[in-house]
Amino acid sequence: MLQKDFKLKKILKILIHFFWKRNIHGLSIVKRDCNIARTSRVGPFCVIDGEGGKVIIGERCSVNASSWIGAGMSSIKIGNDVRMGAGVKISCSHHNFDRTDIPIREQGIKNNCDIVIGNDCWIGMGAIICPNVVIGSGVIIGAGAVVVGNIPNNAVVVGNPAKIIKYRH
Ligand SMILES: CC(C)(COP(=O)(O)OP(=O)(O)OC[C@H]1O[C@@H](n2cnc3c(N)ncnc32)[C@H](O)[C@@H]1OP(=O)(O)O)[C@@H](O)C(=O)NCCC(=O)NCCS
Repeated sequence: MLQKDFKLKKILKILIHFFWKRNIHGLSIVKRDCNIARTSRVGPFCVIDGEGGKVIIGERCSVNASSWIGAGMSSIKIGNDVRMGAGVKISCSHHNFDRTDIPIREQGIKNNCDIVIGNDCWIGMGAIICPNVVIGSGVIIGAGAVVVGNIPNNAVVVGNPAKIIKYRH
């Protein structure tokens, strides 16, 4: 009986560590070529994949549930203190599609489509950040925004395509 209790406690400890105490939730997948600071947290059901490029996430960031971050053949560099709502999508994948005589899947993916995000940004839930953009520091990206161009420091952007509505003071 005592041995059974002991085993149960051990299993419970492992489960708590796996699903709760780790900085990367046990139900998330962090694939190759990713460098995530230990002080940053990744919620459940996220996929983060360097995909042959590189994903770098700085200190004290949070990536909330069901987010996707994929670097394609490029790199995604996220600064410190960046907060992401649920379901944020950040992708550098940009297919070549000029030719119509062969399928898109055979035309390869562009490299040098890097995404850079500065420090202390807040990215609202469901926002999408497309390839080849630089987002400054202190930027707020509204829920559901689609970012297709560079954003200067301290701007607040919303909509599809994301437009600046104001600056933080
Ligand atoms: C972007 C955001 C921070 C702006 O907040 P705010 O400064 O209080 O802005 P306001 O509510 O005053 O809105 C200003 C204008 O932008 C519009 N707007 C605000 N958020 C918007 C959004 N996400 N998408 C489209 N338009 C938006 C408003 O309708 C308003 O338009 P109007 O001037 O024509 O009336 C906020 O709306 C938002 O999207 N927050 C993210 C919430 C979230 O994702 N939380 C979970 C993650 S932690």
